Amino acid sequence: MNFLAIETSCDETSVAIFTDDLRIRANVVASQIDLHARFGGVVPEVAARAHLQRLLPTMDEALKQANLKLADIGAIVVMNSPGLVGALLVGVSAAKMLALTLDVPLLDANHIEAHIFAARMAAGRDIFPCVGLVVSGGHTSLFHCKTPLDFELLGGTIDDAAGEAFDKVAATLGLGFPGGPAVEREAALGDPKAYALPRSFFKDDRLEFSFSGLKTAVLYALHGPSTTRGPLPGPGPVRANLAASFQQAVIDVLVAKCGQALRRTNLKRLAVGGGVSANRALRGALETLGQRDGIDLFIPSPALCTDNAAMAAVAVEKWHRRTFASLDLDAVPTYHGND
Ligand code: KG4
Ligand code: ZN
Repeated sequence: MNFLAIETSCDETSVAIFTDDLRIRANVVASQIDLHARFGGVVPEVAARAHLQRLLPTMDEALKQANLKLADIGAIVVMNSPGLVGALLVGVSAAKMLALTLDVPLLDANHIEAHIFAARMAAGRDIFPCVGLVVSGGHTSLFHCKTPLDFELLGGTIDDAAGEAFDKVAATLGLGFPGGPAVEREAALGDPKAYALPRSFFKDDRLEFSFSGLKTAVLYALHGPSTTRGPLPGPGPVRANLAASFQQAVIDVLVAKCGQALRRTNLKRLAVGGGVSANRALRGALETLGQRDGIDLFIPSPALCTDNAAMAAVAVEKWHRRTFASLDLDAVPTYHGND
């Protein structure tokens, strides 16, 4: 049984084909980085138009890679929430049309739950119940993931998401877009202890995050508190040390809060997903936490951490339960948990 899944929530157009036993047959991602780089961030309308242009060629490529035809597809999956509404609309309307034309079930998948399910796909075995950390451009949230489809929100960011902070600090340091990989490369050249940057709620019991003060602290460290403007730093120790110190501050907070969530829930499994979890220093720090506290850590390969359609295989669970979406399925921009 083959599922065809569509992801158009932000700036990656992706189509995947997977089976009911969670085998990925194709996972094609058409990145829009080239289109958004000159704006220094994702421009929603540009993203939506690019999805419109790229979705069907991406689907064609996925079918070719899987060596299948549309007639071989038994269900259509679409990630309809959360995301940029104009971007989501492209994927949702294509998915509905396909389901109607092929006369196969339509299934909706939640992008956040899918990011955690990517860890299940990569593990090749059950990972639930677990603590789930989603760290992406739009979210930094900790969940008690009871089943693939039953998440209790333990806490999230009260301002910027971790990925957003990476992107903004990259802009401050003149490192370009997308910021995460650029900051990671620069941080490898610097000293993570060079600057004492804030770690919000670090010693606090609250399972919440705040990265906006950290972002401002990087700006002040560079230009002083009296101004928010100044020339971009060139290559050298200041830029590298700031990147390394910033990255370390984010990692320290993420790791500490994962530890707290694991203790609070009394769980011994941690699943991590979202673009920021592609960061090698974060992965290393989480591995250290896992070894220290006897935690089974599940982080997918970087290609499954960032946005992709294969993670929509979380919908296979719905297919087993026959909870199908109807043809009036909507695009829902904000995340609504199920608790
Ligand atoms: O999950 P994702 O691909 O899209 C969203 O759902 O937001 O995450 C994108 C975010 C961006 O903010 C990007 O800068 C960040 O993930 N990111 C990274 C790395 N790779 C991507 N952050 C830190 N280190 C990385 N290597
Ligand atoms: Zn995402």
